[in-house]
Amino acid sequence: IAGCGARSSQGSSGNEEGSSSSEDKIVVKFSHVVAENTPKGKAANKFEKLAEKYTNGKVDVQVFPNSQLYSDDEVLSAIQQNNVQLAAPATSKVSKLFPEWQVFDLPFAFPDTKAVQEAMESEEIGGKLFSMLKEEQLLGLSMWDNGFKQMTLDSHTLKKPSDFEGEKFRVMSSKVLEAQFEAVDANPTPMPFSEVYSALEQGVINGQENTLSNIYSKKFHEVQDYMTISNHGYLGYAVITNNEFWQGLPDDVRKNMEKALNETTKWVRENGKRLNDENLKKIKEDGTLKEIHKLTEEEKQAWIKAMDPVYKEFEEEIGKDLIDAVKGLRE
Ligand code: LMR
Repeated sequence: IAGCGARSSQGSSGNEEGSSSSEDKIVVKFSHVVAENTPKGKAANKFEKLAEKYTNGKVDVQVFPNSQLYSDDEVLSAIQQNNVQLAAPATSKVSKLFPEWQVFDLPFAFPDTKAVQEAMESEEIGGKLFSMLKEEQLLGLSMWDNGFKQMTLDSHTLKKPSDFEGEKFRVMSSKVLEAQFEAVDANPTPMPFSEVYSALEQGVINGQENTLSNIYSKKFHEVQDYMTISNHGYLGYAVITNNEFWQGLPDDVRKNMEKALNETTKWVRENGKRLNDENLKKIKEDGTLKEIHKLTEEEKQAWIKAMDPVYKEFEEEIGKDLIDAVKGLRE
């Protein structure tokens, strides 16, 4: 890979890389898997506008939503090869390269998004996790929120841990998420996001966990009958670029891209929850689900207890210090 992003000559052929032609733009491809009307989808589009504005059109940000360019499993290596310059995979997916990132998947680890943001900003959690990425040519630029995950199923309402028994749930590629479902005797099936709708429709899986914005925008509520508002796990994103590409950008361009990114991060932090809440309303209005159950405090305590062994099981893989730091946020 050249240490520089793709350049489009916009019709002026024959320009060497680094040519000063004002028509040359630095092309920044941003690949993601969700719909555009979600926190990440909206944030990516917002970043495109702001980055182009702040760099006076020196960059051309091209956003590819809905797994159009790469699916979950491919995007990190596409960044390493500089085939795409930006992506914002769920933290769970970063754990394929760095198992420590599974700390965000631990069940009931965070009481609210404020606690997640605190974790990401702390040196002992966020600082540590972001610094690892460089070992693999990656650079973590920011953390974007989606929100908390809810459970859906085809056959009954999930209230007690025993309600999970024998059911097949789709999970993102994370061993902790698999362990979470195994702890309640369910069968986890890792699968890319782009395949979930048809797997639910065809009954290859019976249920899944995701945020309300992902459930609504991908119509999972049309192929499931029961939803439990459980807020049992967090789903957020690491905005990642190719380190060499980013460092190779002209200073003014990089600064203005960072400015655009900071503004976008602020926006998604302030609006992620609102978007998910609006999606719950829309799911209710659609009326396709037979029941939406909000987990009671007592039920929640039973889930916490049933899923608690996951913490011990992953102490070595994630690191006790990271797990303790996350637990410390709750105290
Ligand atoms: C999923 O695979 O369920 C999520 O990571 C999708 C996303 O990017 O929000």
